[in-house]
Amino acid sequence: MALLRIENLGQAYKDAVILTDINLSLERGEVFALIGPTGSGKTTLMKLIDLLTKPSLGSIYFDEVDVTEAESDRLAARRRMSLVQQKPIVFNMNVYDNVAVGLRWRGVAKNSIREKAEHALDLVGMADYAHRDAKTLSGGETQRIALARALVIQPDLLLLDEPTANLDPNSVSKIEEVIEHVIKEHEISVFMTTHDMVQGQRLSHKVGVLIDGQMLQMGKPDEIFNAPQSKEVAEFVGIDNILAGTIEKKDGELADVKVAGGAISAISGFEKGESVYALIRPEDITLSLARDGGSARNVFGGVINKIITLGSLVHIEVDCGFPLFVVLTARSTIDMGLVVGTQVFISFKATAIKVIRRWS
Ligand SMILES: Nc1ncnc2c1ncn2[C@@H]1O[C@H](COP(=O)(O)OP(=O)(O)OP(=O)(O)O)[C@@H](O)[C@H]1O
Ligand SMILES: [Mg+2]
Repeated sequence: MALLRIENLGQAYKDAVILTDINLSLERGEVFALIGPTGSGKTTLMKLIDLLTKPSLGSIYFDEVDVTEAESDRLAARRRMSLVQQKPIVFNMNVYDNVAVGLRWRGVAKNSIREKAEHALDLVGMADYAHRDAKTLSGGETQRIALARALVIQPDLLLLDEPTANLDPNSVSKIEEVIEHVIKEHEISVFMTTHDMVQGQRLSHKVGVLIDGQMLQMGKPDEIFNAPQSKEVAEFVGIDNILAGTIEKKDGELADVKVAGGAISAISGFEKGESVYALIRPEDITLSLARDGGSARNVFGGVINKIITLGSLVHIEVDCGFPLFVVLTARSTIDMGLVVGTQVFISFKATAIKVIRRWS
């Protein structure tokens, strides 16, 4: 039985359609990560689930009760969920009171408040900060207090809107540790949004990709990351090489995909003549200065067109009749003496290519 179920949900503000026909369900103890580019509607969907705003279309069920309309049902459901907002605000009081205040509002007995609040502060590693003025906390500390405040009521459903956006890596891993711990120890369901695909993959059981208000794909994390079903999702999950082509020849599972300027060997279930995209992750491509006789089916000579350094990684565009993006470390780029114009060889296995149907 699903704790949360959403059917044909739609949201519009005046003429602007923000969400279209969203369907999803969340079981007890399950973690759902909603990923998607900025402005795609993630926070809007989160607010609808938090039952603060009513949807323009569709239905929301909490614990199999329809909570789309009736105020009393919405209120009862709201008491069993808590939301950590994208930009959490703390109240102008000390850390302990920030966490305890929700329990006081709920009329929880005094002795029980202390125990619960202390436990929640412990959980997020902020017990030593109980008497600090909450307004003086850093971004990462504020986020942890917001999390403690959400957890203290022991919700059935925890809603986290970008829990680690704009935090330093150290704070990110602390927050993630807390989330992982809570998921494991308590039978809590989590619905979170994130820009960070790796985080979505790491923490969740199910991932949904929201682009332009539409849930383009939903599934297990590795399905989304390794087998995107559309060009939009492939782009969003960081597959830089998306080549439009046609299946030219078929030999069992092995297919020749004709792309503009060349042909590549891939494993594919599609038939001869079908229009497809060939998807190749840059990290699955090997770049070398000499043609080597490895086992890769795809070996192409090419010329470096562009080199873009991003931190310790270097993105290299190679023209091998068609453009291919490769990622190397800055170290190996220097060691190999790679510059624009260098002649190189590119190789990748047929199994490194994911072939999807091409639309339009
Ligand atoms: N109350 C509102 N009235 C009109 N438009 C709104 C309203 N709230 C949100 N929008 C619009 O809906 C779209 C989706 O916004 P939303 O905040 O849900 O995106 P998001 O995916 O959470 O983005 P981000 O990743 O930046 O947080 C945006 O274009 C936004 O301007
Ligand atoms: Mg948002």
